[in-house]
Amino acid sequence: MCGIVGCVNGSSVLPVLVDGLKRMEYRGYDSAGVALLRADRSTVIKRAGKLVELAAALDESKPTGAAGIGHSRWATHGPPTEVNAHPHVASWAGGSIALVHNGIIENYAELKAGLLTQGRTFLSETDTEVLAHLIAVARSEGKDLLEAVRTVLTQVRGTFALAILDSTEPGRMIGARRGSPLIVGVANDAIYLASDQTAILGHTDQLVFLDDDEIVDCRSGTYTVIDFEASVQRHEVHRSELQLEEIQKSGFPHFLLKEIHAQPEAVRDILRGRLILEDGISHLGGLDTIMPFLPWLDGIDTVACGTSYYAGLVGSYLLERMTELPVHVAFASEFRYRSPVVAKGTLGMVISQSGETADTLAALRELKRRGNHPQEQRRRGGGNPVIGLVNVVGSSIAREVDGGVYLHAGPEISVASTKAFTAQVIAQLLVGLQIGRNRRLPITEGQHIVRALHALPDQIQRILDRSADIEAIADRVAGYDHVMFLGRDALYPVALEGALKLKEVSYIQAEAHAAGEMKHGPIALTGPDLLTIYLCPKNDLYEKARSNLQEVKARGGTLVIVGTEGDTSLREFSDDVVGIPAEAPIWTQPILVNVWLQLLAYYAAVKRGTDVDQPRNLAKSVTVE
Ligand code: M6R
Repeated sequence: MCGIVGCVNGSSVLPVLVDGLKRMEYRGYDSAGVALLRADRSTVIKRAGKLVELAAALDESKPTGAAGIGHSRWATHGPPTEVNAHPHVASWAGGSIALVHNGIIENYAELKAGLLTQGRTFLSETDTEVLAHLIAVARSEGKDLLEAVRTVLTQVRGTFALAILDSTEPGRMIGARRGSPLIVGVANDAIYLASDQTAILGHTDQLVFLDDDEIVDCRSGTYTVIDFEASVQRHEVHRSELQLEEIQKSGFPHFLLKEIHAQPEAVRDILRGRLILEDGISHLGGLDTIMPFLPWLDGIDTVACGTSYYAGLVGSYLLERMTELPVHVAFASEFRYRSPVVAKGTLGMVISQSGETADTLAALRELKRRGNHPQEQRRRGGGNPVIGLVNVVGSSIAREVDGGVYLHAGPEISVASTKAFTAQVIAQLLVGLQIGRNRRLPITEGQHIVRALHALPDQIQRILDRSADIEAIADRVAGYDHVMFLGRDALYPVALEGALKLKEVSYIQAEAHAAGEMKHGPIALTGPDLLTIYLCPKNDLYEKARSNLQEVKARGGTLVIVGTEGDTSLREFSDDVVGIPAEAPIWTQPILVNVWLQLLAYYAAVKRGTDVDQPRNLAKSVTVE
């Protein structure tokens, strides 16, 4: 999705902008541009396509300036052309405004109509260009730059993160946000703006997270934050934990493979200090604020998108067993518009890797609004609590929830999510231990789950060490155009996630079904053109699963099976069998099976020669609807 980087440092900002744009490439984009404004010479260079095009143009013209802004665009309003790329520029009598924007201006059509009647001419088809013109108009009316931005933004509906320059003030940069992330990076002699902290990593680790409806006025080494009423706002400066090494491939050919292999360490990180074997329980500081609510709990409402949604579905099977509470999981994109009933006494649970997904953020707000029951308010002094299971520290979702569990999975650069899924399932097990043990989950079962979690990093490593097995199978999978994943119970959502991963990175058409549903329709597809991937480790439904395997085999279907190590009987159905460690109980089986499927998707994509880390049409963090 779109990326913003800006810098004011009093000398030359170009290398900062180019570096920042490169670091944000993983987010997905289809054009890019930079602006460096000076009183005597302003430069705005934009290119459609990949960053190399822009870098070549910049190499030629080598613009200099004390302040500059850069943008990578993922097209929404208007195709990914040079003219639609950001920055957008508008002139006023004294100079010109250049501006980059993430988000969507919902009332841009009516704002544009007003500007057209004032004789303003537009070059692009974007919603963004209206903002540059509105600020230029406000400047020509004599408003100071900060005041011009503030008054314009009070007229705007929609979401935005903005970085703005004015050629008459070459040492100044303005930022603003509503509903789209914007971070201020603070250094002695420079101030940075970024929509993603990776963009300014290496320049500063001192970060200020702006809130919605705030504007920041930046000059070399100083900044002031105001709200839309022009009152000055104070913010804590946070130290970023992010290391440069974490956003580099470190010898792996792709970030996707690096992140799959990072999972043993990511699991250790999420578990560190959070399990108490003696009591069979978890300790989660982030849930302290909602502890008083737990005795009243009547259910859990989970919202998320994509892979995070599938992690939520896996969690629903596990959490219902651990807590004996009903767990409902909804796509955030559906939940926000369908008039959901949020019953009294339910815990809202929002799952997101980025913490910035627009639909998930909106669903979180809906959960809060609809869970705000007046009777509950009187009884407990608040509405239903909402917790977040989020990876990115300081992200919008993390800051809007009442409590939660950080995933500590480290930065996920590959567009296809892998290690975050694993951490999201684990986070739900940790929440389940906390709630379950305060209800009826026996201590022995709690201890069993704690032991299973402790064993997980080594078990994942065992699978990773056998990657060659799945690589050979993936070579054959890559020859199919249609693949069906089947699984039962908590492995049904793993089948869904396996299909999502395969289609995302290899572009093979893949679908998934609950295996018991196969005979109600999907079995009609079985035949020589369809490959079936069946998830069949030993558990309570193993015998039923074997019957499904018979059904596929009897109809001439070709199978790949993920079973249990040492289960040679599965060879009756296929030569392509891999297995998860036999000692893994139902609580961790979904994670282990999924690691095989991640590797399968990766190697199939490599075989097919796709852009593994930045699959076509996809963005890492979907911050617009
Ligand atoms: O950052 P989030 O977890 O909120 O993102 C949700 C989805 O956009 C994300 O999981 C998406 O489906 C990925 N491409 C999956 O690989």
